[in-house]
Amino acid sequence: MLSSFESIPARERIIVALDCGIDEAFDLADKLQGKATWLKVGMTLFYANGPAIVYALKERGFKVFLDLKFHDIPHQVEGAAASATGNGADMLTMHTVGGVDMMRAAQKGAVRAAEEYGFDVPVTLGITVLTSMSEEGLREIGVNRAVADQVAVLAEQAKVAGISGVVASPQEAAELREILGPDAYIVTPGVRPAGSEKGDQSRVSTPAEAFAAGASHIVIGRPITQSADPAAAFERIAAEL
Ligand code: C5P
Repeated sequence: MLSSFESIPARERIIVALDCGIDEAFDLADKLQGKATWLKVGMTLFYANGPAIVYALKERGFKVFLDLKFHDIPHQVEGAAASATGNGADMLTMHTVGGVDMMRAAQKGAVRAAEEYGFDVPVTLGITVLTSMSEEGLREIGVNRAVADQVAVLAEQAKVAGISGVVASPQEAAELREILGPDAYIVTPGVRPAGSEKGDQSRVSTPAEAFAAGASHIVIGRPITQSADPAAAFERIAAEL
């Protein structure tokens, strides 16, 4: 199934993951300004620097994917999503295993804060099964299903809750596109340009393969951030698409 994101330029569908300290994050932001649209802030950068990191990147003109993976009771997650939205996050994440009520609460918090601050409602994404989890790991926590089946079950719950989409590996993207339909966000890390270092990623796809499988956006970190010339690395990937 084709996604309805096909007509958006590739450079606006590449999210650069800033898994680094604040000085390096600002240095990368300066180098990518005017080129990249999206930057991803994860727990390490956020917990060290707080909402200021989001404001600073927004001021430089980026959209910010705030990847804090909420998982708590619905009331708390509603508040977290509202706070993240108020900070200016354009995309945020939660664990789908928190359940439909929790995901609905996140959506409600995001919509409420967006109205309050006059912002666009952020993209709300569910994490299904962490790619660090194996089938054995699932069994240990009492889930007796193949990983792919559990991913499908949880994606259905995200759909029922009415959030924007999911984070998934490129290998899962095609099946998830069938489950979630053409308009869902399917954001895939584990992407490596042809011929680049895999780092600690084991199952990787190229950017073109991830988009062909149905990804709406791809997350790329080290192939850009650890390149001698991050701007050129970003441009090479965008041009490859
Ligand atoms: O440097 P690299 O391209 O591997 O960075 C990928 C980014 O995507 C990192 O921020 C990582 O935390 C995130 N991620 C991932 N695999 C997942 C989920 C998130 O690599 N399954």
